[in-house]
Amino acid sequence: MEQHVIQSSCRQETKAVLDCACGTVQHLYMLSELGYRVHGSDFSASMLSVASKNLENCRKNIPLRHCDFRYLEQAFAEQFDAVVCLTTSLPHLHTDEDLVTALRSMKDRLRTHGVLVLIQGTTPYTLSLPPIEVVVNREDFCRIFVKEHDNQFQTIHVLDLYHSKERLESSQYDIVYKIILDDDYGRLLTEAGFGNIQIYGDYDRSPYCEESRRLIVVAQRAE
Ligand SMILES: C[S@@+](CC[C@H](N)C(=O)[O-])C[C@H]1O[C@@H](n2cnc3c(N)ncnc32)[C@H](O)[C@@H]1O
Repeated sequence: MEQHVIQSSCRQETKAVLDCACGTVQHLYMLSELGYRVHGSDFSASMLSVASKNLENCRKNIPLRHCDFRYLEQAFAEQFDAVVCLTTSLPHLHTDEDLVTALRSMKDRLRTHGVLVLIQGTTPYTLSLPPIEVVVNREDFCRIFVKEHDNQFQTIHVLDLYHSKERLESSQYDIVYKIILDDDYGRLLTEAGFGNIQIYGDYDRSPYCEESRRLIVVAQRAE
């Protein structure tokens, strides 16, 4: 589980954590249950609206802010012991310039020696898998991914099929991820001012290799 890699990456005194692409708050909830003081932000107003409802339902009072992770200083004056950006969120940015801007913005929200954790599901192994994946298969709803990639980008064509008496329709949209692999992270994080860069292949901190199904980056604010 993500909690293992996050907990083991943080020093004992880590208390305050920012999830800067919090989505529907699954990790904020988990980290709050573990006793961290958490803040969340996301670029998508619709994600934040679902996030607020989810927090209300589980009676959690966690501050959420609307913010692009390239410009975290616009929403947060405070600094954190850890910043996390999980589940292939950073690869939504498509240029090295934007990636370095985002990583610098994350670094600036960290206290000295604070830790950044990035997790993505894009690796050479996952890129080699069959291109069609049924990711949800329920009686009333299916979601199918059709994936293609070149050297720089992976495009996921998402097909949502609603098939109940109440709702019979389909929709299609694309998600385009920049392919960022271990060497790229080393270069981009160094340029952004991080040191002590560790790359893992799974939540148990096993070494990253060509067969890894995840790419997990842990880096420390250098100064
Ligand atoms: C695949 S979802 C992952 C959400 C969450 N981290 C999780 O694990 O459930 C990617 C998230 O990144 C957010 N995102 C994409 N670009 C962003 C940006 N520039 N600034 C902040 N959030 C962004 C999206 O709105 C979305 O919530």
